[in-house]
Amino acid sequence: MSEWVLLLGGSTGHGAATAKRLAKDGYGVIAFHFDRGEAKKIAEETINEVNEISGGRCHYFNTNAASEDAMQSFIPKIKEITAGSKLKLLLHSIAFGTTTNFFGDKPVTQRQMDMTVHVMGNSLLYWTQNLLNEELLGDGSRIIGLTSEGNYLAMEGYGPVSVAKVAMEAVIRQIGWELGQFGITANSVQAGVTPTRALTKINDRWEDWVENTKKRNPMRRTTTPEDVAGTISMLLKSEANFINCSIIYCDGGEHRSGTI
Ligand SMILES: NC(=O)c1ccc[n+]([C@@H]2O[C@H](COP(=O)([O-])OP(=O)(O)OC[C@H]3O[C@@H](n4cnc5c(N)ncnc54)[C@H](O)[C@@H]3O)[C@@H](O)[C@H]2O)c1
Repeated sequence: MSEWVLLLGGSTGHGAATAKRLAKDGYGVIAFHFDRGEAKKIAEETINEVNEISGGRCHYFNTNAASEDAMQSFIPKIKEITAGSKLKLLLHSIAFGTTTNFFGDKPVTQRQMDMTVHVMGNSLLYWTQNLLNEELLGDGSRIIGLTSEGNYLAMEGYGPVSVAKVAMEAVIRQIGWELGQFGITANSVQAGVTPTRALTKINDRWEDWVENTKKRNPMRRTTTPEDVAGTISMLLKSEANFINCSIIYCDGGEHRSGTI
């Protein structure tokens, strides 16, 4: 099997689980991550594991994938790696933004808003444009981004990310609408609350959040990165060729259950 996937944010959480799952499925993995200090050690463990599962068909780049420079300088490398084959998947699984309220002690600034919406939302559009121009996307390619309940609920500290999620969903809908004619589909996967590194940074009460989620989730547990990886693996199958411009929920029904 010669197909490759490109993961933006592939070292921890949902992106890491997806890298491992897709490597098991037989895909070669190209991934970006942006890790320093302790996070870098966790990233190294993921990279070693993906490398082993994929038999060495694994390339990780530790850099800010949302910068224009990264897109310009890494796309030739990606072309070299894929050697003429299209990418099966472009996944956006980046968690990097300002988690603060709009008002109060630390009101969000315009710079923080712009950065969060760019990195967690609009950057997916620019990646898609560049990859399409370089003929790295084609019939059967998937664009997937991870969204959350925060796209329609207001939550403590989540405002800027909430705005980014709404932007990303709109970007995805429009990509699927414009590129569907070429057999390229774009969908959002809405994950339920998942105890990952990103969750611990949203607010100090994240542990209460996890406990409350377990109670309100119809399946009485939180989402795992492996649940999300399984959903993405399923969406790569040819049976999913006609799923486009949609939001797929991977949360045990959490989005149907009221907050408690
Ligand atoms: N954890 C949840 O409860 C939850 C729920 C729904 C959706 N999501 C979404 O899932 C996605 C992944 O989050 P996670 O929970 O797995 O978090 P995580 O912190 O475990 O993973 C984030 C990944 O993004 C990478 N990253 C961060 N900034 C980057 C940058 N500028 N360039 C390249 N890579 C960068 C990190 O290196 C890491 O690989 C996010 O978009 C998040 O909003 C998370």
